[in-house]
Amino acid sequence: MNTQPIGVLDSGVGGLSIWREIVRLVPHESTIYIGDSKNCPYGSKSEDEIYTLAKRLVQTLLDKNCKLIVLACNTITVSCLDRLRRDFKAVPIIGVVPVVKTAAEQSRNGRIGILSTSKTAQSQYQRDLINRFAQISTVTNLGTDRLVPFIEAGKTEGIEEVLTEVLEPFKKENIDVLALGCSHFPFLKAEMKKILGKNVEILDSGLAIARQVKRVLESRDELCDKFKPNYIFFTTGDKSLLSKVLRSVGNNNRVEQIEI
Ligand code: DGL
Repeated sequence: MNTQPIGVLDSGVGGLSIWREIVRLVPHESTIYIGDSKNCPYGSKSEDEIYTLAKRLVQTLLDKNCKLIVLACNTITVSCLDRLRRDFKAVPIIGVVPVVKTAAEQSRNGRIGILSTSKTAQSQYQRDLINRFAQISTVTNLGTDRLVPFIEAGKTEGIEEVLTEVLEPFKKENIDVLALGCSHFPFLKAEMKKILGKNVEILDSGLAIARQVKRVLESRDELCDKFKPNYIFFTTGDKSLLSKVLRSVGNNNRVEQIEI
């Protein structure tokens, strides 16, 4: 057992959708979360910019003694997971990608969708992932940078109109499973469901990542099974915004501001 915390990072508040699944599955693990809301959205930045920011976030978590890092951001994962792993060899780094395999297996009509940021949707990493399932599924891969600002601002006024436009191509393609390729999007699941209808299953990556965290810690003999965990939260942006989203996932801890 290793009682050092797990570090979880995202471009902003979205990674809390992954964080909540991690603490549910491994409830004795302490965590440190950093959301880079000041620099959000990452989806419209260049790969080099994303890498520079992500490197600082990882370094900040390592300085706070984290034993494992979760990149709770698809955009960071597809842009620079390999580079970060080369830079920081001492700890395992886990990335997040949409659950395309599960989506393909669950689909009844073989027509699935993936919704990500534009950076993620256009990435070679995601295209390779999709190609692996091309035999069994027709995949509609869409990117949008219009949704993240709503979630970062903690506001949903006007979201219905934007979502209706964004989701229209999926309706045209008659998909029956949608895999979310951005950690912010699970916070819009209910609104998406209203537009897509109850026959479309919406899948996020939270549980899959939490399971991977557990497997990695077990394999390193580092999983905590009897320990009172401590949850620490940092944002580079407005503390009250991260607090608001944090409360929506059932936690009232204080949020600290941090420079990276
Ligand atoms: N949450 C991030 C993701 O999973 C991206 C949001 C952003 O554009 O910063 O892709």
